[in-house]
Amino acid sequence: MTTSTLAAVIYKQGEPAIVESLELDDPGPGEVMVNIGGTGVCHSDHNVYSGYRHTDALPAILGHEGAGIVEKIGADVHGLEPGDKVVFAIRPMCGRCKYCSTGRWNLCDPISSHSPTAQFRKNGAQYHAGLATFAEHTVVWENNVVKVDPDVPLDRAALVGCAVITGVGAVVNRAKIETGSTVAVWGCGGVGLNVIQGAHLSGALRIIAVDTNPSKFQYATKMGATDTVDASNDDAVEAIRDLTDGGVDYAFEVIGQPATLRQALEATCDGGTAVLVGAAPDGGEVMIPMRHLFLDRALIGCSAGTGSPRHDFQWLIALYQQGRLNLDDLVTRTRPLTEVNEAFRDMEAGAVARTVLVP
Ligand code: APR
Ligand code: ZN
Ligand code: ZN
Repeated sequence: MTTSTLAAVIYKQGEPAIVESLELDDPGPGEVMVNIGGTGVCHSDHNVYSGYRHTDALPAILGHEGAGIVEKIGADVHGLEPGDKVVFAIRPMCGRCKYCSTGRWNLCDPISSHSPTAQFRKNGAQYHAGLATFAEHTVVWENNVVKVDPDVPLDRAALVGCAVITGVGAVVNRAKIETGSTVAVWGCGGVGLNVIQGAHLSGALRIIAVDTNPSKFQYATKMGATDTVDASNDDAVEAIRDLTDGGVDYAFEVIGQPATLRQALEATCDGGTAVLVGAAPDGGEVMIPMRHLFLDRALIGCSAGTGSPRHDFQWLIALYQQGRLNLDDLVTRTRPLTEVNEAFRDMEAGAVARTVLVP
């Protein structure tokens, strides 16, 4: 059987997505069909949409930051039932590869553990779909979703699967900053704001928000930034050195550009750590002065917040429900799926922290 569902399809990079009705197969063995209740528009989606990140896998249905309700389950699905509320995990959690076996769930590499059976279809055409949350319904491997508290609103829970775990996780799981640390954050978008909020949760003393778009500082301050640096006007490295008497303990790059990664490392004090959180561009390389490393500085990377989704999504949502994690101010705007192109325009204009597409 198939289900008719709206989906936002990219036929050609650099051109608008077409929102159209497709047929979606029932879930196969180990798969679940999810009725999407909210999906955030992330810069990683924009990278594919715009062509900044080239792909040959077209036509494609984008979207990876989402939450919804399980509608159907395939054979051999264990632990999920129709009606369960779930948040999508960017990487699956196969539980068997060398990474899962050593607790590094964010690096799960389930070679051949699951070949998707259910497909989106129209007139015989094949669509490339990862999590494909830019749709009314999607079918994914059961290990790509985490069951969460039934009371959490879907348009808020959606953000937990990418922006929140990536940002908060970079601070608490990867850098593991000490209370009283000084922190600088390059990029106050959906992900960077969550680095700021992770630093705030961790008891950072100073949290310096850096952006070339000063309109982002209103959000940064709400998330806990103590200082702001307008990188369109000021030399961010100099400004941070001045604010902190020589550099920060931790600098997070949340844009994904070589120049800003180098700035982040330059802005650390001796013994400090720079963390790459932004997605690396294809072929991106960065030159760094060796003397920094010789002075106990470290440059580390972080993927998907170095998180364990089944564990981390639960406590992140619980903190939201306790009023200690701010998801509400991250969602500047909700729009219907049919306005996905307008949501990309808003991101390009720097007009939002996050847009969440809702049914
Ligand atoms: N210096 C400082 N800030 C910058 C610069 C720069 N040179 N260039 C861009 N920015 C700011 C933008 O003004 C914007 O506020 O970086 C922010 C990026 O925010 P979003 O577009 O909302 O991106 P986001 O979804 O947060 O993703 C950031 O993380 O997941 C990855 O692929 C994603 O690499 C991307 C990064
Ligand atoms: Zn994302
Ligand atoms: Zn695995």
